[in-house]
Amino acid sequence: MRSFAVCTAAVVSVLLSTTLAQTFTACNYREKKGCPNNPALGGNATFNFNATMNEQIWRKKNQGLTEKGLEGTTFTIERSGDSPKMDSTFYMLFGRVEVVMRAANGTGIVSSIMLQSESLDEIDWEFLGDQDEAMTAYFGRGDREKSDGYTPGEEFPMKSPQADFHNYTLDWTKERIQWWLDDKMVRELKYEDAKGGKRYPQTPMNVRIGPWAGGDKDNNAPGVVEWAKGETDFSKGPFSMTVKTVYVEDYTKNAKEYSFADMDDSGDWRKVKVIEGESEALAQVNNKTTKDRWNGLSHGAKIGIAAGVLGFVVIAALIGLLYFFRQRRQGRKEWAAQQAQQDKEASELLQFQQGQRSGKFGYNRV
Ligand SMILES: *[C@@H]1O[C@H](CO)[C@@H](O)[C@H](O)[C@H]1NC(C)=O
Ligand SMILES: *[C@@H]1O[C@H](CO)[C@@H](O)[C@H](O)[C@H]1NC(C)=O
Ligand SMILES: *[C@@H]1O[C@H](CO)[C@@H](O)[C@H](O)[C@H]1NC(C)=O
Ligand SMILES: *[C@@H]1O[C@H](CO)[C@@H](O)[C@H](O)[C@H]1NC(C)=O
Ligand SMILES: *[C@@H]1O[C@H](CO)[C@@H](O)[C@H](O)[C@H]1NC(C)=O
Repeated sequence: MRSFAVCTAAVVSVLLSTTLAQTFTACNYREKKGCPNNPALGGNATFNFNATMNEQIWRKKNQGLTEKGLEGTTFTIERSGDSPKMDSTFYMLFGRVEVVMRAANGTGIVSSIMLQSESLDEIDWEFLGDQDEAMTAYFGRGDREKSDGYTPGEEFPMKSPQADFHNYTLDWTKERIQWWLDDKMVRELKYEDAKGGKRYPQTPMNVRIGPWAGGDKDNNAPGVVEWAKGETDFSKGPFSMTVKTVYVEDYTKNAKEYSFADMDDSGDWRKVKVIEGESEALAQVNNKTTKDRWNGLSHGAKIGIAAGVLGFVVIAALIGLLYFFRQRRQGRKEWAAQQAQQDKEASELLQFQQGQRSGKFGYNRV
């Protein structure tokens, strides 16, 4: 395990800027009562990011292109303002994430894998488009300022993360966090080494993956562009990051949801209430297994089930007809609600970008 000194300027700016474009909280339960529960993964699952990728579990966010191909999902930055990403709908309370991906090219383009909680605990991998290095970072309770006993960012040399696929693993327990680059552990952070645990990430986090343009001077403060090691020239694009597979394991088994009813401003993991049960995400993942089981059934069993289903379908079709017009009316209402939600997200992104331009960073204001 080797650790490399980072130049002071880079350290200072990393604290201010890293993954800002991807940072967002819907409801910070350290500051507010009544935040919604976070759905849990509550087990382990492998997600293929090729054509079989599940868009109910991974939600597309922000402007920019995502495409499912044979190699995986590509996230492409074509123009200023693009920062396409996918967020998992599930959260984990301590866990392991293995991402097989290839970083994007382009000066100032930041390919990022982030674990983040709604109270702004965070663990990252990041890669600049024109650098032979892997950047690691962690943040506790939204604190982005380096101080005694708190060194969020560390960088490690590696050869062209933009040329080949690599396995980037984060292993997070209540005692320590490990960053693994393929089969080598490059960094380990102990609980007590994050200001005696006060800055140790310890609230349920989801997975957020995608590139952003740290070198876009129209959307970032000068410190961010400097941290990203130069201005992005969009005419040299498009710039694509590709994700092949993501393995996730929630170390809290059998969790269905995480509740913050007992949470206070400490952000302590012991104040997260675990609600047990079958998680929605695992139920969806297992849905596929149900299909496999069907294929394994005998011919007779299949015919029996099919006959039952057919009878049900005939009756259901009749009932369905009766409700046809009602559903149409409701469908229009839902569409309008969805539009309103999209407008709201777009305006939040705009506000965030305006905040960045004026030097006020979004994470302080939500
Ligand atoms: C989950 O973990 C178990 C035990 O380690 C393993 O056998 C299984 O293959 C994993 N499932 C997935 C979907 O990766
Ligand atoms: C997706 O990837 C998985 C695992 O590599 C593979 O088994 C599957 O056939 C792929 N599906 C498609 C449609 O490419
Ligand atoms: C990045 O550029 C190098 C050199 O031109 C090329 O070999 C590599 O395939 C590019 N990577 C991506 C992700 O476009
Ligand atoms: C990724 O690397 C970790 C650490 O070496 C290893 O345990 C894991 O099996 C690897 N995962 C994949 C999908 O290659
Ligand atoms: C199960 O999978 C099918 C397609 O494979 C999908 O249409 C259906 O909505 C899924 N059901 C659940 C409960 O996720």
